[in-house]
Amino acid sequence: MTTERHADDATSPVMIRLDGVGKIYPDGTVAVKSLDLEVRKGELLALVGPSGCGKSTLLRMVNRLIEPTSGRIELDGDDVTDVDPVALRRRIGYVIQASGLFPHQRVRQNVMTVPTLLGWDKKRARARADELLELVGLDPATFGDRYPHELSGGQQQRVGVARALGADPDVLLMDEPFGAVDPIQRDRLQAQFRSIQADLGKTVLLVTHDIDEAVRLADRIAVLSVGGKLEQVASPAEVLGTPANDFVADFVGSDRGLRRLAVTAIDPDDLEHPPTVAPTDLLAVAHQIVSHAPEPFAVVVDEHGMLRGWVGERELKDDDAGSAHVSDRLRRFDETIEVGDTLRRALAEIVQHDAGWLPVVEGDRYLGVLTPTSVHAALRRAVPASHPEMVL
Ligand SMILES: Nc1ncnc2c1ncn2[C@@H]1O[C@H](COP(=O)(O)OP(=O)(O)OP(=O)(O)O)[C@@H](O)[C@H]1O
Ligand SMILES: [Mg+2]
Repeated sequence: MTTERHADDATSPVMIRLDGVGKIYPDGTVAVKSLDLEVRKGELLALVGPSGCGKSTLLRMVNRLIEPTSGRIELDGDDVTDVDPVALRRRIGYVIQASGLFPHQRVRQNVMTVPTLLGWDKKRARARADELLELVGLDPATFGDRYPHELSGGQQQRVGVARALGADPDVLLMDEPFGAVDPIQRDRLQAQFRSIQADLGKTVLLVTHDIDEAVRLADRIAVLSVGGKLEQVASPAEVLGTPANDFVADFVGSDRGLRRLAVTAIDPDDLEHPPTVAPTDLLAVAHQIVSHAPEPFAVVVDEHGMLRGWVGERELKDDDAGSAHVSDRLRRFDETIEVGDTLRRALAEIVQHDAGWLPVVEGDRYLGVLTPTSVHAALRRAVPASHPEMVL
């Protein structure tokens, strides 16, 4: 896993602009008071907030399933109220909880909906549908002719995503798209969606009340409170590391320190540097080095800076081998991790392999090691001094 984050550059063009947008329902409910928010091109922005704070209302105003009572919404520079709603919805894919598939249509027909609306001929629409089913990991030959109720919840959800991508829209609106499936399925769907998104680079506005989902998928997170009030909009690391106020801090939870592991990348400055020896060194020399080291081991690195393995006291003790070299005794690593990967993965590897330390590489090149202590220090580094309580 890598931490692909894109479009988080404040200079990228705006795709969706909300300007003083409000919605008061006819019964007087103020769902959204007045919201300013921008979603940049190619960005995945997650809207999070408690139930009833206006998330779905907001999403539905963007594709005009609901008309705002005040303010202005622009899509790629066009005021959406100037665009015919049907034409608008073809530019915007919409995925809702529990997939919203047409129950009496086969999976393939469901996915063909938008291309058919656009007047594509049947053959082209069908080919597109099969391509999209492949994209979301469903074999068209197996699933194309089934009805939605003949699929699992997670599979239905994927068909929902395929259908939303039908006309290759620039924008995807997703309302709790992974909410209706069990945690394991959700994990898979999120991972798969992330890789689809990395390829397609759509602009996505995603509603969720699962902060972990937001952290995992989003480039930026917008935290809303009741009445569609924007409490903070920032990268996942910032929202977790420096919540703007108590509301955001409460919302992201007291275990935000743990969550931050998932959004903090391993930095070369975080690494520890135990002694290194070369494969060509004599065992006696390596023994000398290891016996003076703070921990009784040394990393074996060759003359090209490549990681070869490690030697510990046990390998070196029996140095009656005389002319034997490090290469004769070195042990390989079970696991390595790439710089730039997350601290969470590093910690998971350390715990899983009971290793105590984990070598960090860039390609094959050895950079240093991570230990539980250095993971903790790295997390501390990523926290501003004014928020010491944020550290695990
Ligand atoms: N048609 C409607 N008429 C009156 N009030 C409505 C209507 N639809 C939604 N509301 C109210 O507007 C507010 C915002 O609702 P909305 O569905 O946008 O919330 P949400 O943030 O999506 O919540 P959830 O997380 O539970 O889905 C709520 O108080 C809701 O009761
Ligand atoms: Mg909702």
